[in-house]
Amino acid sequence: MEQIRIRGGTPLCGEAAIQGSKNAALPMMAAALLHKGTSVLLGCPRIADVFCMEKILQSLGAATWWEGNNLHLDCQSADGFQVPAAYAKEMRSSVILLGALLGRQGKGRIGYPGGCIIGKRPIDLHLQTLQALGAKIFETDEAIVASCPKIKGCHIYFPSVSVGATEQGMLAAVLGEGTTCLHNCAKEPEIQWLQKFLNQMGASVTGAGTENISIHGVKALKDTRFSVPPDRIVAGTYLCAAAITRGRITLKNCPAKELTAFLLAYQKMGGQYVEKNGTLLADASRIAFPIVELTTAVYPGFPTDLQSPLMAVLATIPGQSHLIENIFEDRYKTVREFLRMGADIQVRGRDAWINGRKCLHGANVTAKELRGGAALVLAGLAAHGETIISGRQYIDRGYENICRDILRLGGNISE
Ligand code: UD1
Repeated sequence: MEQIRIRGGTPLCGEAAIQGSKNAALPMMAAALLHKGTSVLLGCPRIADVFCMEKILQSLGAATWWEGNNLHLDCQSADGFQVPAAYAKEMRSSVILLGALLGRQGKGRIGYPGGCIIGKRPIDLHLQTLQALGAKIFETDEAIVASCPKIKGCHIYFPSVSVGATEQGMLAAVLGEGTTCLHNCAKEPEIQWLQKFLNQMGASVTGAGTENISIHGVKALKDTRFSVPPDRIVAGTYLCAAAITRGRITLKNCPAKELTAFLLAYQKMGGQYVEKNGTLLADASRIAFPIVELTTAVYPGFPTDLQSPLMAVLATIPGQSHLIENIFEDRYKTVREFLRMGADIQVRGRDAWINGRKCLHGANVTAKELRGGAALVLAGLAAHGETIISGRQYIDRGYENICRDILRLGGNISE
């Protein structure tokens, strides 16, 4: 099993460019299935989850190829309707393919989605959304089977906010009959990017970024080339790398406008930054202040995906910080690994109290999920001595090449 080795203890100083966004690219790949033609995703991240979605599209009959970071998806003959269980198990966001399959050909079958174990992660909202649009859904022990000769527009009120269910509704309704109005939608930037992508394909979607999204069904879509936006979570992770080492770094292609809540927390800790034309210069040399209380929340709140990276930073700031994980109930798995590195953290339910210490020490630790794994890399950068991280495959799900980037930022890291 591949490992990552880090010798920590020195402030980062360097420059890196932010990769394309995983959470934007995956629903765009599902959207490509709605079009019997070619979509090109420019600047698409070469990460495990994208490769998995690519394999699924291939298994449905799509032809796909890469030119550097540009991913070509020719879905002309993608008339399969069964997503192999092995792939669905690999990745939770595979479930949004169900909406695209129903939109394209009125039927779909998919194994139960897997992904990072960070909570129960039910898919009830996804299925209710498709049912409201007219789908009949049967669940067997192995798979979810859905059919719907024609998606019919309607009003759907989400009982709680879900990024995936909002995307599911958008994808299913694009080629439907009439108008679908989604209410209490997620407002994440990735939803707004999906709307832009769909509209460039010829769809008619409005309202993304607000609570209400309207989708006016169209008959067909057209070929398109679209730039995948930079990954706000990767950018936040690297800012945490600067913070935890009290370094100074430059991030190119950094989506600062999508990181408002994170940057506020970074400033509260004593971090400074300037941003101009997509380049962010971060000076974290004065980071010294704990965070009295911070709750993860739906966008524009503090992103749950940056909770573990922030926790790593707080573990190195003397004084007590308090985090409340409000989105996924089981997202403190990495705490046990932080403790092995000398951190002092107490968890009760959704609350975590972090008693920051001046220094952590290197240890053999294991990544258990994507963002928690990245947080271990950060802890390793701050720790004295050597840290060896196993479970690298989790990190590769979302980071194109974390070792390359951290090296560019001046870290002592090897594979
Ligand atoms: C997406 C992101 C993930 C991020 C999360 C929250 C992708 C590929 N993944 O995940 O990185 O951490 O948003 O910002 O974009 N829920 C239900 N029933 C459902 C669906 C969700 O109860 O049918 C619950 C979840 O268990 C969770 C909450 O709703 O507690 C939010 O989940 P959701 O917004 O759906 O997250 P994902 O789309 O899975």
